[in-house]
This record gives sequence, structure tokens and C-alpha cells, in this order.
Amino acid sequence: MIQFERISKSYKTKKVLNQVTFSIKSGSLVAIIGESGCGKTTLLKMINRLIKPTTGTIYIDDKSINSMDEVALRRKIGYVIQQTGLFPHMTVKENIELIPKLEKMSPSDMADNTRKLMQMVGLDCDEFLHRYPTELSGGQQQRVGVARAFATDPDIILMDEPFSALDPITRSDLQDELVQLQAKLKKTIVFVTHDMDEAIKIADMICIMKDGDILQYDTPEHILNNPEDEFVSNFVGKNRIWSSPEYIKVSDIMIDRPVTASRDLSVLKCIDKMRQNKVDSLLIVEPDSKYLAGIVKAGKLRGVEDRTQQAERYMYEDFPTLLPDQCILDALKIVTENRVSTVPVVDGQKRLMGLITRSSLVTTLSQQYFDYEGGETE
Ligand SMILES: Nc1ncnc2c1ncn2[C@@H]1O[C@H](COP(=O)(O)OP(=O)(O)OP(=O)(O)O)[C@@H](O)[C@H]1O
Ligand SMILES: [Mg+2]
Repeated sequence: MIQFERISKSYKTKKVLNQVTFSIKSGSLVAIIGESGCGKTTLLKMINRLIKPTTGTIYIDDKSINSMDEVALRRKIGYVIQQTGLFPHMTVKENIELIPKLEKMSPSDMADNTRKLMQMVGLDCDEFLHRYPTELSGGQQQRVGVARAFATDPDIILMDEPFSALDPITRSDLQDELVQLQAKLKKTIVFVTHDMDEAIKIADMICIMKDGDILQYDTPEHILNNPEDEFVSNFVGKNRIWSSPEYIKVSDIMIDRPVTASRDLSVLKCIDKMRQNKVDSLLIVEPDSKYLAGIVKAGKLRGVEDRTQQAERYMYEDFPTLLPDQCILDALKIVTENRVSTVPVVDGQKRLMGLITRSSLVTTLSQQYFDYEGGETE
């Protein structure tokens, strides 16, 4: 775990970081994002002590980094920067093996290790090992940069806009590879970026900064669904819902308290309840457990002659349901495929949690649309 405790930084009179406090769990990938000059690089470079805070302390696994040997600390932390930072007069092999050599790894271990790293980042050893950085494309250089950061198998890897100079396709490939690597190796990665799409794609947690403050530190889902304020919301982009609909959960758009009845309620009272609540179906639940037993529909009840009978006799027991953490696309699919206008939301024990209706779906989708277009939502 990396903890930032009230970290401030000032240059002369200019405050660059303002009492920043947050922590990064081991094995997670955190993206730090914000406008140019908001202090991202400054924060990142403090982790390997390239910059010292004016006040405050950083802890790695509960140990203040000030108490650690600076050189040893840096060797334990991989670092990738935008311009790759490869040494131009060294070959790819020499670049990757720089730190392992300082660590006195044996030449045969080193050769094995380098081969694995090259494979890991998708570069052919025979073709690239003995080339110089200028003989590689930007994307290939970045791959070498990433390989080098992993060379001593560090627990922590710092990445400062590593992919920002790349074309969109190469960039997207490298993002995919980073996600795969991370799933396998579970490093603690701090990744600075300007790009919200990139952050959403790769990060477990996103830290949004502005003028040296943290505005929101949260999961991508929460940031998309519950932006802390106007700035975050604009930064995230209101239209993003279209590019990441999987982040809109059923629980975000469901009606929390759908109209229910117990199975012994009479048909007459059911019809009355529907009329009062202006709905055309009732969810039949067990009073204590909230277990969803069935649905009764107005159409069917109206034809019943003896209205003193219990609703239970006329309820449907076979119908689609949704789980709260399914996404809006699942809901759309179920509504469309089953031609139903309502879908109950239940938990794993089939206890009623809420209700998705066709009109709540339409409202959600059209709201996003109108926000995006800058038009009225009312
Ligand atoms: N050595 C320095 N002396 C004075 N001011 C500095 C120094 N280094 C950085 N700054 C200022 O600190 C602020 C934060 O810089 P930092 O490099 O952390 O920004 P950033 O968020 O990484 O920006 P970018 O996205 O452009 O890389 C900037 O306003 C910058 O001008
Ligand atoms: Mg920067």
C-alpha cells in the first residue's frame, strides 16, 4: 500500500499540491487524471523521491519513504515516462538490462529475464534486441520502456502518460496488454493520464485532480454514475454513457419501491391498488422475506368474475428478472427479447430489490442524449 499523508508542495509562492491525502492498495492500478499543470507528475515523482514534498509524508507498506535508502527505493520501483526515457546510445537489450546489471543479476538469468520481458510486451527478440531506440517506432519504444520498468520485478510501477504520444490503435493495443499484464502480475501501478477513456479502461480506481487538490477518488463506475461535482461531471463528459453503457447498472435506474401485494390479497383489492397507484401490474412478495413469488396483471384480473378470490390464483410465476449489478444493456435486451414492459430486479435469493420499466429505460437513455446535446431534459 502507498499512502499519501497531507502532502503539500510549493515552489516559492506557488502552491502545486494542497494537503493531498489518499492511499493506493497493493496490487491495484490507479489512474491519476486532471488538466495540465494540476500536479500529477509532481505527485508521481514523490513516490520514488525524485521530488520531495514541502510537507507531509508518503508511506509504502506503512514505512515512511524518507527512512528508506533512496537508491534502493528507486530500484524497487519501475518508472515509465512519456518519452520512454530510453538511453539512445544503448541497444534495447542494454536498456532493459541496465538495472538488473546494477543489481548484479547473473548474465544467464539476465538473458532469460530479458527474453521473457520482450515476449511479455510483444516484441520479437531476434528482431529487436540489438537495435537502438531510434531504430524503433514510437509504439515499439514504449514497449521497451514498459519491459524495462518490469525488469527487476518491482512491486510498484509508476507510469507518467506512457502512451500519450502514440496513435490511437497502438495506444489501445498497449492498454489492452497492460490490463492483461496487470491481471497476471498484480503490481501496484500508478498511471498518470490526460485521457478519461484510458483511465476508465485500465484503472481499478481513478483519482481526479484539480489545482493540486483531489476532487474525487473512486472506482470508474462511481465516477461515471455519481460525479462529485460539476467539474468532475464535465471532465468525465456527460456523453460518456454512450461509450461505456456497461457502467450504468440496473440498480442505478430501477424504481426502488415498486408497488407490491401479498398473495392472499383479493382480486378486487388488487385492481383497486393498481388504479390508485396508476400501474397495470403488482409484484406479489412474501411479507417478511420479500421473496418475489409472482406478478399479477390488470388485464388478467379484470376478467375474473369472483373478485373475492385471492390474487395468488392468477399470478404469473414464470417471468424474466434482472440482478442489480447487471447493466442497462442487459435490461434493454430482456425487455426487447421478452416483449415485456416491466422486469423485476431481485437479489441472488430472489428477494425483490426494484423494478425496471420500459419507460424508465427510455427516460434514462433520452436524458443522456439531451444532456449531451446541451438541450433541455425537462
Ligand atoms: N521546478 C519547478 N518550479 C516551479 N514550478 C514548478 C516546478 N515543477 C513544476 N512546477 C509547477 O507545478 C505545477 C504542477 O506540475 P506537474 O508537472 O505536476 O503538472 P502535471 O499535472 O503533471 O501537468 P501535465 O499534465 O502538463 O504533465 C505546474 O503548474 C508547474 O508549472
Ligand atoms: Mg505531467
